[in-house]
Amino acid sequence: MKRKISILGSTGSIGRQALEVIEKLEDKFEIIALTAGSNINLLNEQIKKFKPRYAYANDLKAIEGAEPLSLEEICSNKENDLILVAVSGKIGLKPTVTAINNGIDIALANKETLVMAGDIVMDLARKNGVKIIPVDSEHCAIHQCIKNILQVDKLIITASGGPFLHKSVEEMKNATVEQALAHPRWNMGRKITVDSATLMNKGLEVIEAHHLFNMDYDKIEVVVHPQSVIHSAIEYVDGSVIAQLGIPSMHIPIQYAITYPERYEGIKTHSFSFSEIARLDFEEPDWDKFKALSLAYQAGNIGGSATVCLNAANEEAVFAFLDGKIKLFDIIDTVERMMNLHNTKANPTLEEIFEIDGEIRLKTQELLLKLA
Ligand SMILES: NC(=O)c1ccc[n+]([C@@H]2O[C@H](COP(=O)([O-])OP(=O)(O)OC[C@H]3O[C@@H](n4cnc5c(N)ncnc54)[C@H](OP(=O)(O)O)[C@@H]3O)[C@@H](O)[C@H]2O)c1
Repeated sequence: MKRKISILGSTGSIGRQALEVIEKLEDKFEIIALTAGSNINLLNEQIKKFKPRYAYANDLKAIEGAEPLSLEEICSNKENDLILVAVSGKIGLKPTVTAINNGIDIALANKETLVMAGDIVMDLARKNGVKIIPVDSEHCAIHQCIKNILQVDKLIITASGGPFLHKSVEEMKNATVEQALAHPRWNMGRKITVDSATLMNKGLEVIEAHHLFNMDYDKIEVVVHPQSVIHSAIEYVDGSVIAQLGIPSMHIPIQYAITYPERYEGIKTHSFSFSEIARLDFEEPDWDKFKALSLAYQAGNIGGSATVCLNAANEEAVFAFLDGKIKLFDIIDTVERMMNLHNTKANPTLEEIFEIDGEIRLKTQELLLKLA
């Protein structure tokens, strides 16, 4: 039986790689829907090649060869066995909740969904018997290492350190958009690449891990590992450490997430070789230079709407940086100022989360106008 899958964000970095995985495993998958934002040409090419029944793009009328549907309609279609949520930013939350409410399993790349509403999303998934399989390589690694969560003492999340790992604060302060987008290990979408340069991405991943694995923040550690070969690890209560290793390629975690619990050769090109890798380095994160990481732990520990604030302020500031309106360090200063101004609401409902998200974005945009 083919697994019926829809891909939200098929024109993005994760979405395109997911289609490469599916091409290798075409006897295992039937594509129900593909979706884009504005890249309608690529979406129409994908429709021609993969023949989904439904599709979404910001301009529904421009879709050729598939029936246009909204993201909500796609995620309400119970024909789907699985939905890969690979849109970037806050737009991932609503469709993910819709899919969970319809009992459809999720392969989750969109970490912002759990940063904004992790308590609600994980609770809904439990109640609806829905599996959430992480696509993020770190969480995918942890998912593979854990047998019994009750025996786990600590999650160890690795970070490549991004393009400014060994650069001075001054160099980082004056970084251009091009320098921030030149990630040494991963080729990703623009928003996540800037988040990786500030290490906010690692902070968002810590919050994501807290929700996915129900682990306290003081039991989630970040270690810088520039080679990105160990994708993450766990420490059991008896001191044994289990890590997952692999070449730095998103094809592997994507394939793991969409084929789970099966495993196939699929996208594998060559065998892993310890002698080719030769060495693995580790270091403590520089907490002063990468303040985003502390801010994310702070927001996570406060809980409630604090992580909604962190996420919204960061997303708006990253867009402003990408538009050349502010400097790289202004992103983190902006997030910190918005967090200081925010009155946290404990246990917000989904409606309140969207409302707070909107308010924070407006206030952040006002602040950014003054900086620009
Ligand atoms: N890339 C990675 O290696 C990686 C690794 C781990 C986790 N993730 C996470 O995966 C998610 C996607 O990352 P990415 O790097 O693949 O991002 P990306 O390359 O920017 O792709 C984003 C996708 O979302 C679509 N999209 C954007 N705005 C939209 C809107 N308003 N409505 C509907 N669709 C919209 C884009 O469509 P158009 O391009 O057509 O506008 C594109 O298909 C992020 O949450 C990221 O944190 C990514």
